[in-house]
Amino acid sequence: MRTLIYNIGTLAGILPQGKRMLAGREMGSVGCIDRAYLIANEGIIEEFGEEECLKGKAQDKSLFDRRIDAGGGYVMPTFCDSHTHIVYAGCRDGEFRDKIQGLSYEEIAARGGGILNSADLLHSTSEDELFRQAMVRVEEVMAKGTGAVEIKSGYGLTTEDELKMLRVIRRIREVVPIEVRATFLGAHAVGRAWRGNQEGYVDLVCREMIPAVAGEGLAEFVDVFCDEGFFTVDQTARILEAGAAHGLKPKIHANELAVSGGVQVGVRYGALSVDHLERTTDEEIEALRGSTTMPTMLPGASFFLGMPYGRAKDYIRAGLPVALASDYNPGSSPSGDMRFVMALGCIRMRLTPEEAFNACTINSAYAMGVDHILGSITPGKKASLIITRPIPSLAFIPYAHQTPFISEVVFG
Ligand code: NIG
Ligand code: FE
Repeated sequence: MRTLIYNIGTLAGILPQGKRMLAGREMGSVGCIDRAYLIANEGIIEEFGEEECLKGKAQDKSLFDRRIDAGGGYVMPTFCDSHTHIVYAGCRDGEFRDKIQGLSYEEIAARGGGILNSADLLHSTSEDELFRQAMVRVEEVMAKGTGAVEIKSGYGLTTEDELKMLRVIRRIREVVPIEVRATFLGAHAVGRAWRGNQEGYVDLVCREMIPAVAGEGLAEFVDVFCDEGFFTVDQTARILEAGAAHGLKPKIHANELAVSGGVQVGVRYGALSVDHLERTTDEEIEALRGSTTMPTMLPGASFFLGMPYGRAKDYIRAGLPVALASDYNPGSSPSGDMRFVMALGCIRMRLTPEEAFNACTINSAYAMGVDHILGSITPGKKASLIITRPIPSLAFIPYAHQTPFISEVVFG
């Protein structure tokens, strides 16, 4: 099946083969061709260029099985969302009221709400029902232009329920046309049965959960909520070691609530990404220099919880890359809208539209291990594309962030 997309106003997000991410000043530009075409073969980008080079080919019906008129809009890679908790049961709209009344995320958690509240709900929800609820959200984000999503467990907090969540993620992966990657986050909070015995719970994560998850091949990554009131640096190191022994690569939650040491321990264990970073000092920036770890910021959580935004500009000035992701979850970011994430990146973190674009595409592809197949317009990558309505510029996407901008999304 060969598809031609023609009448493209601007083809945006072009990168050469082998470019895995963009760092520092490179983040400030986006490769574009005006008045372009793109040809995909069996769902893979085959070639693209200026439309005038097509000559008569566009009209030759025998050359293409499908022809898509982009209507003069932009064609760009779909968003990659490298950090979500999109599989959960019900929602936490009650805590939303508590939050409005002035309770902090930590106070809600300390009262047995928060993650434990979601774990109780998940426990009493069947696997089929959990799948159904999660699929509604996955379809929602696909319609908003997300072509890859990382999904974490972490609302199970018992071996059985963690496996239930991860099996739901596997089922999602089997039925959707987008890329799905799974992360085991047993150390999201201490399960209720282990209250007062956090070390015992960490033992369970290391000795029972990780071998069970790896045994069924249910995850590629292991994550730990390394933060004040959650897991310590030493506990995190133990869990990452156990994960590594079972082939799971680390991704870390760090510095959301306090400067936690999570970045440093993540870098030490070769984490693919360290995420949140709302409370970063210069030491975190130093720790990341020369590493292969992607600093990932989640402005939707800063927005929803009224927390500081990550210092993305300082990271970029230091020559580092930055990725942005939604953190879609019921407690700190009940939205998976990557266009809104891009807008917050610009409006609240002062990223340029180009930096925010790269943070939501190629860099977030890297942060979830799919940069070889997604995240840019590159021959050989999956033709996972957003075709926009005619818009005046790339900046229009985060600028007029509530104006519908998508005409069509294709996933290969
Ligand atoms: O990334 N920080 C930890 N985990 C989630 C929140 C989970 C929840 O509150 O349900 C986050 O913000
Ligand atoms: Fe998270």
